[in-house]
Amino acid sequence: MIIGVPKEIKNNENRVALTPAGVTEFRKHGHTVYVQTDAGKSSGFTDDQYLEAGAGILATIEEVYAIAEMIIKVKEPIASEYDLIKPDQLLFTYFHFASSEPLTHAMIARKAVCLAYETVEKTDRSLPLLVPMSEVAGRMAVQEGAKYLEKPMGGFGILLGGVAGVKPANVLVLGGGIVGTQSAKMASGLGANVTIVDISLARLRYLEDIMPANVDTVMSNEYNIRELVKSANLIIGGVLIPGAKAPSLITRDMLKLMKPGTVMVDVAIDQGGCFETSKATTHEDPIYEVDGVVHYCVANMPGAVPYTSTLALTNATLPYALQLANLGWKQACSNNEELRKGLNVVNGQVVFRGVSDAWNLPYTDVKGLF
Ligand SMILES: NC(=O)c1ccc[n+]([C@@H]2O[C@H](COP(=O)([O-])OP(=O)(O)OC[C@H]3O[C@@H](n4cnc5c(N)ncnc54)[C@H](O)[C@@H]3O)[C@@H](O)[C@H]2O)c1
Repeated sequence: MIIGVPKEIKNNENRVALTPAGVTEFRKHGHTVYVQTDAGKSSGFTDDQYLEAGAGILATIEEVYAIAEMIIKVKEPIASEYDLIKPDQLLFTYFHFASSEPLTHAMIARKAVCLAYETVEKTDRSLPLLVPMSEVAGRMAVQEGAKYLEKPMGGFGILLGGVAGVKPANVLVLGGGIVGTQSAKMASGLGANVTIVDISLARLRYLEDIMPANVDTVMSNEYNIRELVKSANLIIGGVLIPGAKAPSLITRDMLKLMKPGTVMVDVAIDQGGCFETSKATTHEDPIYEVDGVVHYCVANMPGAVPYTSTLALTNATLPYALQLANLGWKQACSNNEELRKGLNVVNGQVVFRGVSDAWNLPYTDVKGLF
């Protein structure tokens, strides 16, 4: 199969969908890979590295779309790419169709085969191509929180781990899923006192077992959160109710209970945020203050660490991309239910229920297409 890797052109997207190591794997299986010039530059991969791995380098995005049977990307195509997409072309990338009607209509019109990273699903219902980005964001939340707790950055002026004779900071983590677990690991590793709250007792039991002694677990309810915010220096929001807006666990009136200079990092901002006072920010202008509390609400946190994010993402996507290249999308999706769940739009038909519901479009059962 001929695989094309365009350079990401969405604002502030520095990741690339395939590394030179991935090119080597495709070549080993007899495939041909074309990478747009400088596609890997912001992630630390040069054209020469791709050439050495056996890829061809193409000068323009038009050439990549024109030659490729499968396009591997990171972000959804933006409007300027729509007309480059050919009927039957397989696109393997994040789409998030339910949040963009124009994108959905464009992909239907182009009659492409759209396999979305975010809906590839394992039998235990986990989402293997979303997990790596939650891992990155969860770890980064502590790094960002520590930075904004510094006085010159607007924070309380406390070191997360304290020093001999001085108590460490208190970190409150809302949600003990992927983001919350990674945040708790990083914060506890730095020596902070960490409390994780979650609504799942089973999850709290598991975390209690695996976390170090400076991590406590507490049941999530309004009363407990109201008490915990009083002593928290850093609050990290990582709750998720799949398919729904995140619940506002920290209400505006709770800010008055906090110490001035408390820092709140709302990782769940991409689902609306779990603090009532959250609004999405960017890496250029990441924070704002409400009632003396610093809010960090960057919606694409992993974008700031493209080297790590690219490797984490491609480690997860490559095995699926290889199956698609080796077998073709029909056979690969027929063999592998995880991949089949990634199909969203196929040759002009919507085959994912959430997308047809979101935009009131007819739904076609994907099984009828094999
Ligand atoms: N901002 C970014 O750049 C970025 C990057 C990656 C992920 N995210 C987002 O982070 C959020 C968390 O992702 P995840 O992968 O950790 O999800 P996850 O499903 O692994 O974990 C969510 C946890 O929240 C818990 N929860 C649900 N309701 C709760 C409540 N009322 N109180 C306490 N806990 C509650 C669940 O029990 C679960 O353990 C998602 O919205 C995800 O999209 C954002």
